[in-house]
Amino acid sequence: MSRTHINILPVQEFFDKCLDFLIDMFDADCGMLIFLDHITGNLVVRALRADIEDDGSCPVVLDNSMANIVAEDVETYLAEGVAPGFLTRWGSLIPLFNVTVPLKVGEQMVGLLALGFREESFLAEEDLTSILPAASGYITLLLKHCQLQHETVARNLKFIQSLNKLMEAKDRCTHEHSIRVAEYSVLLGLRAGCDKVFIEHLRQASLLHDIGKIGVSDGILLKPTSLTDEEMIVVKKHPQIGADIIGNVESMKLLVPLVLYHHERYDGKGYPAGLKGEKIPLGARIISVADAYEAMTSCRPYRDAYTREEAIQILKSCAGTQFDPKMVSWMVEILADEKDAKGDSSMEKVHSGSG
Ligand SMILES: [Fe+2]
Repeated sequence: MSRTHINILPVQEFFDKCLDFLIDMFDADCGMLIFLDHITGNLVVRALRADIEDDGSCPVVLDNSMANIVAEDVETYLAEGVAPGFLTRWGSLIPLFNVTVPLKVGEQMVGLLALGFREESFLAEEDLTSILPAASGYITLLLKHCQLQHETVARNLKFIQSLNKLMEAKDRCTHEHSIRVAEYSVLLGLRAGCDKVFIEHLRQASLLHDIGKIGVSDGILLKPTSLTDEEMIVVKKHPQIGADIIGNVESMKLLVPLVLYHHERYDGKGYPAGLKGEKIPLGARIISVADAYEAMTSCRPYRDAYTREEAIQILKSCAGTQFDPKMVSWMVEILADEKDAKGDSSMEKVHSGSG
């Protein structure tokens, strides 16, 4: 199975939607969002809307005057006709009037919003003096928020990598198992129609779902034979230990329910809280199925790995009792797709791992 990488915020989508919104708001005929690359000093078009048939072969060219707008730090630039101080190309559409507004984060110019109009009476005075500057301020606020979220994700990923390194040092099998669980969880989340932000949470929680096993002694965690009842009581503490570890990190609090409840059962007979049905968070129901399938198809010191078909039969037999039946049916579809893509050779997938 190929790895599924998803960015938490689709930046290009964000730019496109911002521009669409502004074009609609001001009834413009075309528009652009342009950002200044502070390293190269170049202006880069990040979103462009014009009623042209654009095959992408003709580059968008910014003329020098536009760079001057950035350099001179004007509040609003209004131009009649295409030049001066504006794009040399709007495709086949030549707007009669253009308005350009700087985008700033604090006092720093980060780019430009440019709108083009065919009609002379395109903007009211109020639009130029207050609404457009306010709109540009709103965009830059969103940009700042977007940037902060990316920084948070990057910090979380570093933290997850550190925790996983710790786990790998203690039990390499649990570490590898978590990576494969994350891959299946993401595919299940996509099948369930979850949004990209939730999928990212799901991926992070899956990578950390067994991190609480750090708090379980090696004698129990690596025991080659079946566990005693007393040892099982200790193992069953790992969701709470894991939740306590990540719950201390503000930006990871949303992952806590997914880690804490990944051993709940659909019939309410799981642990640690005995939650039932849809009272179990969706992400935890997803991880539960991905975790079980991955564990079954991995070999253990005390048993061989189940084949894909054997594991699917067990999942189906536990649908509605241990697992959310919808998750099981989606998992079966995912595994069928995987089999179609890879053929029967992947059926006897054998890992050495722990669940
Ligand atoms: Fe677990």
